[in-house]
Amino acid sequence: MARVAIVTGGTRGIGKAICQSLQAQGHTVVANYAGNDDAARKCADELGIEAYKWDVGDHEATMEGCAKVASEVGPIDIVVNNAGITRDGTLHKMSFDDWNDVMRVNLGGCFNMAKACFPGMRERQWGRIVNIGSINGQAGQYGQVNYAAAKSGIHGFTKALAQEGARYNVTVNAIAPGYIDTDMVAAVPDNVLEKIVAKIPVGRLGKAEEIARGVAFLCSDEAGFVTGSTMSINGGQHMY
Ligand code: CAA
Repeated sequence: MARVAIVTGGTRGIGKAICQSLQAQGHTVVANYAGNDDAARKCADELGIEAYKWDVGDHEATMEGCAKVASEVGPIDIVVNNAGITRDGTLHKMSFDDWNDVMRVNLGGCFNMAKACFPGMRERQWGRIVNIGSINGQAGQYGQVNYAAAKSGIHGFTKALAQEGARYNVTVNAIAPGYIDTDMVAAVPDNVLEKIVAKIPVGRLGKAEEIARGVAFLCSDEAGFVTGSTMSINGGQHMY
């Protein structure tokens, strides 16, 4: 059945691939983004979707943004919390802002989107929330206490909200991507990335589409018995 889906951070990288895979399932897809207007315009034109700009780390902006989407496009039945940032650095060099920005956007964004959309899903007795976690939330990563804590928090958030949604046919799942060929991973210094890739049994970075396919499955009607789970898609780098 066709539904309205929103993908945060949906105009580039993994988010854009998720938009495409949900579109391929017949859904009406809306992308949220925070900063890059050019990329958003390009993505919206290419996919023929609407892109809405707000910062998911901002509670009020998220409540308003989702209300606008619901009134202009329709009630939101599928939420993919994909928006994420990095501010890598070892703890002794990390500022409070580096910590706080990552917690606010990566973890706070999931709370804000759920606050805006979960009540409607509960009332309509159907919903799908997929939160994009990370291998680094499962295993930790040198230089990422902020990101690893936020992503690890996403996995706990997922399991708690899954319990609240289950009896309303609202499933809540996470995907934990490994290192995927995106701008975010390209920002890792080459010498560091080489060592990371050497530890991936499949022997390469993942592709955004490989994450998107997992999201499409979790958002389908057929996945109604899958909730509170974490799907690891990481080329075997971490078996959890
Ligand atoms: N374990 C132990 N020691 C390590 C280490 C590791 N994994 N990595 C580096 N070190 C050591 C280095 O050997 C070095 O020691 P010496 O000075 O004795 O040689 C020391 O730590 C400092 O290392 P750097 O020179 O790398 O320090 P830096 O301050 O210049 O940079 C850093 C630190 C920014 C964290 C850099 O190492 C880095 O970018 N690391 C990659 C972090 C990463 O993987 N980010 C993922 C981004 S993508 C993403 O997050 C998506 C996703 O979900 C997977």
